[in-house]
Amino acid sequence: MARIIAGVSSSHVPAIGAAIDNKQTEEPYWKRVFSGFEKSKEWMAQAKPDVVILIYNDHASAFSVEMVPTFALGCAAEFPPADEGWGPRPVPVVKGHPQLAAHIAQSVILDEFDITVVNKMEVDHGLTVPMNLLFGSPKEWPCPVIPVAVNVVLYPPPTGHRCFMLGRAIRKAVESYPEDLRVVVFGTGGMSHQISGPRAGLINSKFDKAFLDNLSKNPKKLTRMPHIEYMREAGAEGIEMVMWLVMRGALPEKVDEVYRFYTVPASNTAVGHIILEPHHRAMKKAAGKAKKPAGKIKRAAAQAKAAVRRSR
Ligand SMILES: [Fe+2]
Repeated sequence: MARIIAGVSSSHVPAIGAAIDNKQTEEPYWKRVFSGFEKSKEWMAQAKPDVVILIYNDHASAFSVEMVPTFALGCAAEFPPADEGWGPRPVPVVKGHPQLAAHIAQSVILDEFDITVVNKMEVDHGLTVPMNLLFGSPKEWPCPVIPVAVNVVLYPPPTGHRCFMLGRAIRKAVESYPEDLRVVVFGTGGMSHQISGPRAGLINSKFDKAFLDNLSKNPKKLTRMPHIEYMREAGAEGIEMVMWLVMRGALPEKVDEVYRFYTVPASNTAVGHIILEPHHRAMKKAAGKAKKPAGKIKRAAAQAKAAVRRSR
């Protein structure tokens, strides 16, 4: 049976991708941002997911304003990087997982969650930047990725509650997939930022940090937050944070916060990042660690016995 082993959220600021592509990651301004993801990359290297389900929003790269699905599920075998005006980013083509994606489509649609099936799609910085932050810059991405695009660019975006419920439906779908796959769900976007208008440059660290606290411990509170509150407190583009609730809905009620990072600014936004694991997984890990000393004690006892036999 497939299972979700963790949820990861991170901002997907396009300037972070540009800093990687232009080899500026060691510059002091950017080093502050990238150093916050070093531990995350170590965590990911250990977690070794078989599949990533990545929740993001398309920025008029795959979908123009002529047609914007509220939720779109990438079911293709691969997703090339989109040309966002400067040519496609020099990142690997994202390989999909058509079998699991088709299973998710069937499960969530029969669960009355009408998602748009997308069989051909290019992916922009919304997807590729978080991949770089968590996996670095390999020649090939280490696992298949199922993109899930959420409309947060054209009014009206889905509510936080609807996003949370989509996460639940995705979890149900994953857990009914027969193959033994370890899945990590990404929620991306945010945090507080506004890119145009009189409040351009708005950053609200107090709101962002409270959002991270609630995401970890009290996500139900966030599901009740109306769009106007995101707009007022986190800026017009802060609405992207509803996508983090898809990730949170895909996890059980009780989670363990493995890691958190927050810094201001990156370009004109706040950067937030969190790694959550289902509580039972953390308990299992702890139990595994607790067993190790017992093993050591047994080995030491056996060695002591052998030493006694040899001395006779
Ligand atoms: Fe975005």
